[in-house]
Amino acid sequence: MKIKVTSKPLGDVKADALVVIHEELGLLAETEKAGLKAHLETFARDVAEKRTRAEWFCTLEKDTGVATRHLLLESVTFTSYAPHDEPLKMTAARAVGTCRKYSLTHLAVAVHHELAEDKAAAILEGIVLGDFQDTRFKGQREGEEKSRKLALTFVVPKGREVAVRQRLDRVLTIASAQNTARELVNAPHHVLTPEAMAAHARKLGRSLGLQVSVIDEKGMKREGFQPTFQVGRGSEYPPRLIVVRYRPKKARVKTHVALVGKGMTFDSGGLNIKGPTMHWMNYDMAGAAAVLGAVEAVARLGLPIRVTGVVAAAHNAVDGAAYHPGAILTAKNGKTIYVDNTDAEGRLVLTDALWLAGRERADVIMDFATLTGAVSMALGDIYAGLFTDDEVLRNLLLEAGQNCGEELWPLPLCRELESSLNHHLADIANRAKDRKAGATHAANFLKQFVPDGARWAHVDIAGVARAESSNRYFGVGGTGFGVRLCVEALRLMVEHPEGAGRRTG
Ligand code: BES
Ligand code: ZN
Ligand code: ZN
Repeated sequence: MKIKVTSKPLGDVKADALVVIHEELGLLAETEKAGLKAHLETFARDVAEKRTRAEWFCTLEKDTGVATRHLLLESVTFTSYAPHDEPLKMTAARAVGTCRKYSLTHLAVAVHHELAEDKAAAILEGIVLGDFQDTRFKGQREGEEKSRKLALTFVVPKGREVAVRQRLDRVLTIASAQNTARELVNAPHHVLTPEAMAAHARKLGRSLGLQVSVIDEKGMKREGFQPTFQVGRGSEYPPRLIVVRYRPKKARVKTHVALVGKGMTFDSGGLNIKGPTMHWMNYDMAGAAAVLGAVEAVARLGLPIRVTGVVAAAHNAVDGAAYHPGAILTAKNGKTIYVDNTDAEGRLVLTDALWLAGRERADVIMDFATLTGAVSMALGDIYAGLFTDDEVLRNLLLEAGQNCGEELWPLPLCRELESSLNHHLADIANRAKDRKAGATHAANFLKQFVPDGARWAHVDIAGVARAESSNRYFGVGGTGFGVRLCVEALRLMVEHPEGAGRRTG
């Protein structure tokens, strides 16, 4: 995507269409010439009187004072109740959709606003995430051109060009990494196998100077990563444990953060096989995708904080070798786990990933996992469930979510419910006796495997990782939830090191 920032008068800005987004705060472009002004004023009046729909597209007559052939007016007012700049992002996504419909790919966006940096950032984010279309698996018809690249020109007030440019570069880096995560989420299980995920990580490593190590199934057997080995053994696509290390040239805070992701490339349920929604389960690696996307963005931005991504990738499938209900596994921390249900596999592989985060000596561990159907029943597809006993980390993540639009809602870890995971043969069972509070039981389970001394938060993204129908600026499919959240949380840790904290053990 080509992006220009200019403060030239609109009469000198060449593009296919001029996009003006009107909102109550007044994002109305200042235009010198009467021809355009009339359009803007009519639209603003119609919006105020709720007489028009949210947008207005027209072809301009000559001598309007702008150099584009078309004008697209958008109103934020009609968009939604979502907080902060989310409506603006949604509006921008709708604008780019309309322009695509008319085959217009070079857009000038007027951002004559007091908060030009913030508003331009939100608009670009909406455009990059909203314009994402996953055409990799569509057949190409003859004569059809591959999707044309967008070019954008942001028209901003004089003197703000450099500041806006910096913000846009940052937004583009993060949103592009998020789109890469969405591609990972959408890819079917035979394309994005655990080994393909490892290959993706190695490629990131080579291009961004990250140190990457991968443990394959033989290594798992040798080194005793029983849970991941067992979950993956019913598949012809063997499991991988992946560690990706980003080390900044000069860290500004001492904290070392591990991002841990569930990477189930497909979850059939195993022998406790799933019902009719099984086909959704190729998105069961969305936590891993978020982690890899976040590390990619952090490395490209050069954030001054140590970050390690840890991914447990496996394919939960069925064959004669598949692990069975009733099996008893030993996790790396020595605890034994009774496999009550082979469909509660995410928490099993995460024990290995959490242990690896401890071996990396991470101070703070944040895990992302499409862990339970229960969380999506409780919270739906806007909020992800946040579980942590660490108040500072909780507040930091809640703030990060608010800032970036990937919102979290706290749910309890519950000491009283811990006994529901007791088992007469093993230290813990992977499914609770109590069938209620499923998301809490899963989080309670993970808590038993958090390395000593590390601060930990668990984010259950089962409800938010995939949009079933268009949702905010996302079309159907993977959302890449977690990429912006992680980057924003890490930014906050750098900005406020007092809250970043170090391990105690
Ligand atoms: N990947 C699923 C979680 C899931 C289920 C996400 C439905 C989205 C929709 C996870 O591995 C799983 O199957 N969890 C079980 C746990 C149960 C067997 C204790 C669940 O949530 O039903
Ligand atoms: Zn499952
Ligand atoms: Zn799963």
